[in-house]
Amino acid sequence: MADFFTIRADFLILKQKINGKRLVYLDSAATSQKPKQVIEAEKVFYETINANVARSIHYLSEKATEAYENSRKKVADFINSDSDEIIFVRNTTEAINLAANGLDFKKDDEIITTLMEHHSNIVPWQIICKKTGAKLKIVDTLPDGQLDLKQFEKFLSSKTKLVAVTHVSNVLGTINPVKEITRLAKKFGALVLIDGAQGAPHMKVDVNDIGCDFYAFSGHKLLAPTGIGVLFGKKEILDKMQPFLYGGHMIKKVTKESSTFMDAPERFEAGTANFAGAVALGAAIDYLEKIGMENVREHEKELTRYALEKLSKIKDIEIYGPKNAEIRGGVISFNIKGAHPHDVAQILDSEGIAIRSGHACAMPLMQRLGAESICRASFYIYNDKKDVDALVKGLEKVKGVLKL
Ligand SMILES: Cc1ncc(COP(=O)(O)O)c(C=O)c1O
Repeated sequence: MADFFTIRADFLILKQKINGKRLVYLDSAATSQKPKQVIEAEKVFYETINANVARSIHYLSEKATEAYENSRKKVADFINSDSDEIIFVRNTTEAINLAANGLDFKKDDEIITTLMEHHSNIVPWQIICKKTGAKLKIVDTLPDGQLDLKQFEKFLSSKTKLVAVTHVSNVLGTINPVKEITRLAKKFGALVLIDGAQGAPHMKVDVNDIGCDFYAFSGHKLLAPTGIGVLFGKKEILDKMQPFLYGGHMIKKVTKESSTFMDAPERFEAGTANFAGAVALGAAIDYLEKIGMENVREHEKELTRYALEKLSKIKDIEIYGPKNAEIRGGVISFNIKGAHPHDVAQILDSEGIAIRSGHACAMPLMQRLGAESICRASFYIYNDKKDVDALVKGLEKVKGVLKL
């Protein structure tokens, strides 16, 4: 088992004191902190081999291209796919928009998504439906925070062109049975896109085993820098898709009248890529693989179990999502009766504790929960039980300050 105590030491930002208190960072679902190894990898890239990739033939450009393509291979291996199925994008949002715009939807096609999606996996589908006349169907959540799979099955038909579902809810923490969802969708020949923003950073993902057609995630939630993300797409599907952006790098031939385009993945990587970010993403994957994704998951499961037990003892707290840590990731959203989430977050901040407060980019789900906003604590490899204890103590302070 990895030594999670020494892991924290790799995250220099966590050594700081905030408001004179030990920093307790519980906002990794928004973005993760970065270990010094990842920051160093990007620095070394810029200091030694920086040049634009896949263009010039000089030494630096060849080295930079090699490093960029090595990272693509690392990403491919990380989720058990092939290099030519990995498209580098900015983030999950761009990955989903790329798929939505590249596929060919027609009037009467149906797209199924769910009520527990982040806006990034709802809004692009709404827009596509408006443009094409396709119809959007939204699977409800059950009171225990899981998806209503019976309703999902009822929604499926020969008209279903695509199912877009989150791997792990960024509010409820629910880990969806994506393999089963894919199996059901495939009975009707539908494509399946999985929003892995809260999945890939926290557990072993095998896209081959899941059987999905697309899997999207962001580097910045996975120890890597901002501005680099991934869309996995099955090669035979990518080959039939339209490019999302047009211009440099993605072309084969341009005349005054028209142009032809490269195959995937270059076809979808118009313009200068965030190659330094991609290299750092490779270093982030190396870092996680050294710990082992199974260990990452076990660590977070243990913390989640501990946090659910401790938090549920607080009077007048409502915790959303499944109560069983086996089926939830390290994301715990809650409300304290009579306390606005922003007030809770502000008082916790005075104790050096960083949580998220607000609608968490999931307004339709907020309506289902009957809450305008929530408090959200989320964990990663650098958190420990001391952080959970600090949160519980901080919430007692909140109750005292707000006289609840
Ligand atoms: C489940 C989920 N999907 C999509 C996103 C969007 O990610 P990004 O802002 O990196 O595009 C997030 C971000 O919080 C998320 O949690």
